[in-house]
Amino acid sequence: MQVAKDYKPLHPEIFTLQPSFLDAKFHEIVQLAQDPEQTSEDIIKYMKNHQNRIFSFPVFTTEFCKLFLEEIVNFEESPLPKGRPNTMNQYGISLEELGFDRFISSLRSTYLTPLTTLLFPDWGGDSLDSHKSFIVTYKEGKDVDLTYHFDNAEITLNVSLNEDYSDGELYFGPMRTDASSTVRSGYSHLLGRGLLHRGQQRHGALPISEGVRYNLIIWMRSSQIRNELCPMCDEKPTLVPVKNGYGDGFSMNTVDVCSTV
Ligand SMILES: [Fe+2]
Repeated sequence: MQVAKDYKPLHPEIFTLQPSFLDAKFHEIVQLAQDPEQTSEDIIKYMKNHQNRIFSFPVFTTEFCKLFLEEIVNFEESPLPKGRPNTMNQYGISLEELGFDRFISSLRSTYLTPLTTLLFPDWGGDSLDSHKSFIVTYKEGKDVDLTYHFDNAEITLNVSLNEDYSDGELYFGPMRTDASSTVRSGYSHLLGRGLLHRGQQRHGALPISEGVRYNLIIWMRSSQIRNELCPMCDEKPTLVPVKNGYGDGFSMNTVDVCSTV
């Protein structure tokens, strides 16, 4: 990746995931989930259950969040070219461009997969094989909120990286295929804490009123699930070979013709 090659990191030591970056409570939950005796009910007791299979728990230490945020701001302020993180957010950073892809791969496969295997086996939680990850930035005068949407992901993790802002709660509605319109109450971010939910669960972000909000988003994907049904258009995808990358989460060597984000 050219951008990562040209970028001079501020904290090179954080580009490889270390167990010390992760909250002790997160280690405990992952360890429990790896025990074959444990069920989803057992591990949910160690998380906050926000209904509709939306769960939150601590992920990163405060110290790691601080270093990670410094790295993000350093990259933001560099003259290097930056792509938009996705079609909905104007501002943010692709973590693949910044050189954090291996970091996110190991977070997904070593730590998150044991949890998603128990919590979302019906959404490919036991067969996640790629991801798209990015930092979203909300700031007055730029993006301040995010409209109601669903993600191009089987399972999403959203981790709060700072606390120097006001408002900007998340709110959740029904699954994409559910016609009801009930919107559930908001979720206030807490530093280092992650929110894990199905990508197809509709959600949005209320406007921030001051400061800047930074969140890490990981869209986790299972080619087994999406090769059968495209989550964006509800059709069986037509798969064509791609030379590089993960083909937007479809089989490793294919890309979907209806990729939208
Ligand atoms: Fe989203």
